[in-house]
Amino acid sequence: MELEKEKEKILREIKEAKNLKELEESFKEVQNKIKTFTQKLKKISLPQRKKLGKEINELKEKLEKEYLVKKEILKEKERKKEEFFDITIPPKKIEIGSLHPITLVKNKVEEVFQSLGFEIVLGPEIEDEWHNFDALNIPSDHPARDILSLGKTFYLENKKLMRTQTSSVQIRYMEKHNPPLKIVVPGKVFRKDAIDATHEIEFWQTEGLMVDKGISVANFKEIMEEFLRKFFEKEMKIRLRPSYFPFTEPSFEVDISCVICGGSGCQTCKNTGWIEAGGAGMVHPQVFRNCKIDPKEWQGFAFGMGLTRLAMLKYKIPDIRYFNSGDLRFLKQF
Ligand code: FA5
Repeated sequence: MELEKEKEKILREIKEAKNLKELEESFKEVQNKIKTFTQKLKKISLPQRKKLGKEINELKEKLEKEYLVKKEILKEKERKKEEFFDITIPPKKIEIGSLHPITLVKNKVEEVFQSLGFEIVLGPEIEDEWHNFDALNIPSDHPARDILSLGKTFYLENKKLMRTQTSSVQIRYMEKHNPPLKIVVPGKVFRKDAIDATHEIEFWQTEGLMVDKGISVANFKEIMEEFLRKFFEKEMKIRLRPSYFPFTEPSFEVDISCVICGGSGCQTCKNTGWIEAGGAGMVHPQVFRNCKIDPKEWQGFAFGMGLTRLAMLKYKIPDIRYFNSGDLRFLKQF
């Protein structure tokens, strides 16, 4: 009988399946074979049909049992294979990240100023016009405040803006604290500058403010020289150039001796031997008055350094765009 011959073959196929995929395929195949036998039933005589029908049902039952048993065996085998742990395989290397150069520089700046008795203060990146401009004596017709394309300020809704300088935190702090004060404010600032090797639209500054009795430019110079010496870990010369900021009087630009050539002249310092580090000056009396501090009683200096530029100088990074590039070849060097 044809079924008799096929039976052994069918059961062997199930038993010999090597994995679950093979088992499922064989099971489907044998089910199809049985179907063809079932279709034949219609064409044969009743006694033959009874006999063959019984045989088919028995085979079906046996087959299903074999299938389920084999399935459990294979499942167990595959589970064990998954669980297998070869302790001789070397482990995957765990990638350890490192601090971003800006973070390293920010930490160093904070550490040095704290050692000089300054407190670290933070302020909001989204500011209002009072703290970013008005209280700093910056008139409403100042080009920086031009709300149209000429201005450098990113304006938001409801007259809010992205702060253009950390100087806004001078105001916030003086509004709430009485002198004497000694603070340093690291933070991100935002300007619509054209991006090039030394300009970004989002960069870091560090503000400094010291208010006390009898403070003069000499105190500022001393603090700045001490900071630079500790920050660059070598003797640094500074030069104050007359400048203008509405919130300081007198105002100056702070130049430092070129860290690349030591002052003899190179490409980085454009052969001048000096590099601009930031702006500074003596706090304008009107700024004190805006914060309800008596300028006759208190004096102070303020400065704003480009922290991103300091990082470029410390690590001799030729292009500011590397910082936000996300390039691991750059970041892995720190
Ligand atoms: C100011 O922002 C003043 N608030 C500084 C100040 C504070 C003066 C307190 C007096 C008293 P200035 O616009 O020059 O100043 O910016 C200060 C420093 O920020 C610059 O010397 C430069 O190092 C850095 N800087 C300015 N624009 C950019 C830019 N687009 N990308 C990177 N760094 C910049």
